[in-house]
Amino acid sequence: MLGNKHAAAIAEFGGIPILLDIDKKVGTEQASRIAHEYQANCEFKLCDITDESQISSVRDSLLSKFGHIDILINNAAIDPKVEEKSDQNLCRLEEFPVDQWNLELAVGLTGAMLCSKVFGLEMSRNEKGVILNISSDLGIIAPDQRLYKKSGLPYDKQPVKPVTYSVIKHGIIGLTKYLATYWVDEGVRVNSISLGGVSNDQDPKFVERLTNLIPLGRMAHEDEYKASIIFLVSDASSYMTGSNLVIDGGRSCW
Ligand SMILES: NC(=O)c1ccc[n+]([C@@H]2O[C@H](COP(=O)([O-])OP(=O)(O)OC[C@H]3O[C@@H](n4cnc5c(N)ncnc54)[C@H](O)[C@@H]3O)[C@@H](O)[C@H]2O)c1
Repeated sequence: MLGNKHAAAIAEFGGIPILLDIDKKVGTEQASRIAHEYQANCEFKLCDITDESQISSVRDSLLSKFGHIDILINNAAIDPKVEEKSDQNLCRLEEFPVDQWNLELAVGLTGAMLCSKVFGLEMSRNEKGVILNISSDLGIIAPDQRLYKKSGLPYDKQPVKPVTYSVIKHGIIGLTKYLATYWVDEGVRVNSISLGGVSNDQDPKFVERLTNLIPLGRMAHEDEYKASIIFLVSDASSYMTGSNLVIDGGRSCW
């Protein structure tokens, strides 16, 4: 949902966004829609970001076509909806399968590290580049499990936000600080952004509970992050590295 919004923002501001996704249908559709809407060069590359060799192939094809890579946005994640698992009760820590832990960390954290390694190294060689890591309000605060509570269910059957999301989104901020200082002398700036929840047809009860925790009193619209994405990947943020920009309607200050 949001990756194509980031790409559209880059296209609108004159860049050439390249979408990498494991989902060919979604990626192809999004790239052609952006190309059409912004009359821009926008491409899709099928890539599993947990596989370093696939990322390296994409890097090679982009370098041979464009000669340089300027920006990396680490956006991909697996965010299984809490409800989807509540019957099996697998989202609770007591039951959380280690395979699911490994799968989600492989995409959300290892994938971000691998893309940073492959594309960031290229930027460091050019002594110019920007990496933006997508975190969440849950990268700086714990999930409020009361949001997911269902009446009539016993404690051990109550749905919860899984542990993986917190760990990945906190880890993304740690990765940001590590990379920012690692490549500080090579001209590569690295920042992250903590996004608040985007309104997307969620259960009204959940939305009511969540918005009660947000000073601005609502979830975000999907286009509300565009300006901050452009800010963070452009020279407008030239004196910023290793930072986490929080855009959460004020949720984390309550
Ligand atoms: N949507 C929100 O409300 C919200 C709030 C805060 C933070 N975020 C963060 O923003 C980012 C995007 O969220 P979204 O809601 O658009 O998610 P989404 O699930 O719509 O998109 C994630 C994309 O990652 C891709 N992906 C999964 N595994 C992959 C792999 N191995 N290789 C390549 N691509 C893979 C998926 O195919 C999908 O297109 C995530 O990092 C998410 O945690 C979202």
